[in-house]
Amino acid sequence: MRDEQTQTQRPQWGSRLGFILAAAGSAVGLGNIWKFPYITGENGGGAFVAVYLVSIAVVGLPIMLAETLLGRMGQSSTVGTYAKLSSPRSGWVLAGWLGVLAAFMMLSFYSVVAGWTLHYVWLALSGGLTAVDAEHLPAVFNALRSDGPVNIAWHVAFMALTMIIVLGGIQRGLERAARVLMPALLGMLAGLLLYCTGLDGFGPAFDFVFGFHAEALTRDGVLEALGHSFFTLSLGMGAMLTYGSYMRQRDDFITTSIAITLLDTGVALMACLVLFPITFSYGMEPSAGPGLVFQNIPVALSTLPGASSLTVIFFLLLTFAALTSAISLLEVVCAYFIDERGWTRRQATLVLGGAITLFGVPSALSMSAAPFMADEHGLVGRNWFDSLDYLVSNWMLPLGGLLTALFMAWRVGDEARRVAFDRGTSLGGAGQVYLAWLQLLRFLVPITIALVMLHAVGAL
Ligand code: PFF
Repeated sequence: MRDEQTQTQRPQWGSRLGFILAAAGSAVGLGNIWKFPYITGENGGGAFVAVYLVSIAVVGLPIMLAETLLGRMGQSSTVGTYAKLSSPRSGWVLAGWLGVLAAFMMLSFYSVVAGWTLHYVWLALSGGLTAVDAEHLPAVFNALRSDGPVNIAWHVAFMALTMIIVLGGIQRGLERAARVLMPALLGMLAGLLLYCTGLDGFGPAFDFVFGFHAEALTRDGVLEALGHSFFTLSLGMGAMLTYGSYMRQRDDFITTSIAITLLDTGVALMACLVLFPITFSYGMEPSAGPGLVFQNIPVALSTLPGASSLTVIFFLLLTFAALTSAISLLEVVCAYFIDERGWTRRQATLVLGGAITLFGVPSALSMSAAPFMADEHGLVGRNWFDSLDYLVSNWMLPLGGLLTALFMAWRVGDEARRVAFDRGTSLGGAGQVYLAWLQLLRFLVPITIALVMLHAVGAL
C-alpha cells in the first residue's frame, strides 16, 4: 500500500478531488460554523464581514497558493520544506517550527470546543435538548462550559477520534474521512439554509451580515477579521503546506486552491445566514458569543417534525467538520516527526496526539472553577483557553502567513518558483496570474499584515 511506504516513497492523495475534499475539510471547520458567526455577531456584522472578505481575497488566497505550492515543491513537512528550499541552517527553518508549534497549541483548545459538539450530540440523542425551552438553553451551555471533568472527557474522546484517523494515513485515513464527511456536511447546511430563508428574521439577518455598518468596527475587530481569514483557511501554520506536499506534481494547485477558498467562504456565509435568521426570529442576541450555535440550533430545530434527530444530525456534522480540521492540525505536527526524525506514523500519532491531549487539559478546565483558571492567571487578562486562542489566531497565524509570503516571494529562487508554478496549471494566462500573485506576495500581503499588526498594538 502506497500509504505505508513512508520511508521510501512519500504518500500521496489518491486523486485531485481527494485533495480538494481533504484540504476543504481542513479549512471548513469550527471556524466557519461556530466561530465566524459569533465573532461577526460580536463585531456588529456587515463591516466586519467586508473586512474579512477583502482579507480572504487579497491576503488569504495568495498565501493559500504559496503554501500549497511550497508543499508541492518541498515534498516534506513544514520544517523540512523550509530547510530544503533554503538551507537546513537557515533562520527560515524557524518559520516551519512556528507552524508546528501553532498547530500543537491550536489543536489543544480546538479539541475542547469539538468536545462540546460531541456533548451536544449526546444531549440530543438522550432527549436532553428537546425537553429544554429556549430561555434555558444558555444555562445548558454554561453548565457544560463550567463542568471541568465533562470537558476533559469529551476532549479526550475527540482527540482519540482524531488520532484514529491520522493513524490510517493519507489515503485510507485523511482522504477517506473527508470524502464521506464533507458532502454530508454541505448537504445538511444547504437544507438548513433553505429552511431559514422562510423565517421572518431572514431579512434583518441578511442586512446584519451584508449591510455595511462601519461604526460597529473596532481596531481589534480589524485584527480579528484578518486573523480569522488565516484561521478559517487553515493558513499560517503549514497545514496547507503539509497537505500540498502530498499532492502529485501534475495536480493543478491554482484551481484547487481557488476551489478550497470559495468552498470555505461559502460555508462561513451560509452558516451566518442560518444562525442569524434564527437569532432574530426568536428574539435572541447576535452577540451571544461562543454559545451562539449551541443555543440557536436546538431552538430552530425544535419546531420541526423529527426535531431531536435533526439536532443529532446537525451536531454530528459539526463534529465531522471539526474532525476533518483537527486531523490536519495533528498531521502538521506528525509530518515533522515522520519526515525529519524517522518516526513511524504510529509512534508519531500516539506520542504527539497524547501530548496534545495533555496540553489541552487546562483549556478544558478554563471555564470551570478549577484553581488558576481565572482570567488573571492567563495571558493578556484572559483565561488559558482564550489566551491560547488569542495568541495563536490573532498573532501566530498572521505571523506565519507573513513569513510564508516573504519566503516564497523573496527567498525561493526565481527560476524554481516559475517552473513549479507553471507545472500542472491548466489556467489560461498563467503568466499574468503568476506576476499578479508575485506582486501581491512581495508587497501588498506583507504590508497589509504588518500594518494590521502595528495597528493592533496601537503603534499606528
Ligand atoms: N480552518 C479550521 C476551521 O476553520 O475550523 C481551523 C484550522 C485547521 C486552522 C487547521 C488551521 C489549521 F491548520
